[in-house]
Amino acid sequence: MYKIFEKTQIVGSELIYLPKCPSTNDIAADKSRSNTLKDGAIVITDHQYNGKGQRGNTWESVANENLTFSIFLKPVFLSAVKSFILNIIASLSIVEALNTIDPEKFKIKWPNDIMYGERKLGGILVENILRADVISSAIIGIGLNVNQNIFDPVFCATSLRNIFHREFNKNSILNHIIRQFDINYLILRTQDEANLKQKYLHHMYWLYQKHTFRSFETFEGIIEGIDEFGRLKVKTDDRIQIFNLKEITYLK
Ligand code: BTN
Repeated sequence: MYKIFEKTQIVGSELIYLPKCPSTNDIAADKSRSNTLKDGAIVITDHQYNGKGQRGNTWESVANENLTFSIFLKPVFLSAVKSFILNIIASLSIVEALNTIDPEKFKIKWPNDIMYGERKLGGILVENILRADVISSAIIGIGLNVNQNIFDPVFCATSLRNIFHREFNKNSILNHIIRQFDINYLILRTQDEANLKQKYLHHMYWLYQKHTFRSFETFEGIIEGIDEFGRLKVKTDDRIQIFNLKEITYLK
């Protein structure tokens, strides 16, 4: 069972637990349509059997072993063009929470995969509802592999248990993430976006390193950060190129 023991301002204002459900993002969306969710509510399940990933993929998670939850927010102060900041807060909060286990080892692979070395252990799916040009509500879905120890090798995935060779308490990790999320969300509400972006860059995977990528063609480049819309900036020999989601693949 889950219990929020952190004293937070918004994130974790209520906790809705479902033993199983298709997708916590979809449940949160249904509840938000019927206006039954508080700002900061969390929908969490131990068995998500039709989880959604980025770019139309699925998110597979073995029952009872991992964290699968969604945070519902009403960031009405945020204009639609700033939506990437929610991805920043989510990935940053997870990495900050995990760094209490092993400092500086967890990285954010743009836009928001959570990595340990070359393996992915977490993913985030942000779904926004816009009204005029503001974000009237956002559902931030988080999947984090905690105690699962067998993965399909094609996914290059890992879990905390595989990394540290012990079981972890899911409720305690959830609470760490919620606390960090609440802190970062407060920073956002006080308009200090630059601070959040700087912290995100600090944890960014492959930042300032030469690597190989594929877009229209394969090329070598150096990740230099993100632009004001959260697009990836990669320096090649002669210029800085800007990439949107789906426009670039990391190779080696
Ligand atoms: C990714 O593709 O990396 C994003 C994965 C996001 C998975 C989480 S699990 C909880 C929430 N509910 C979903 O259906 N998806 C997200």
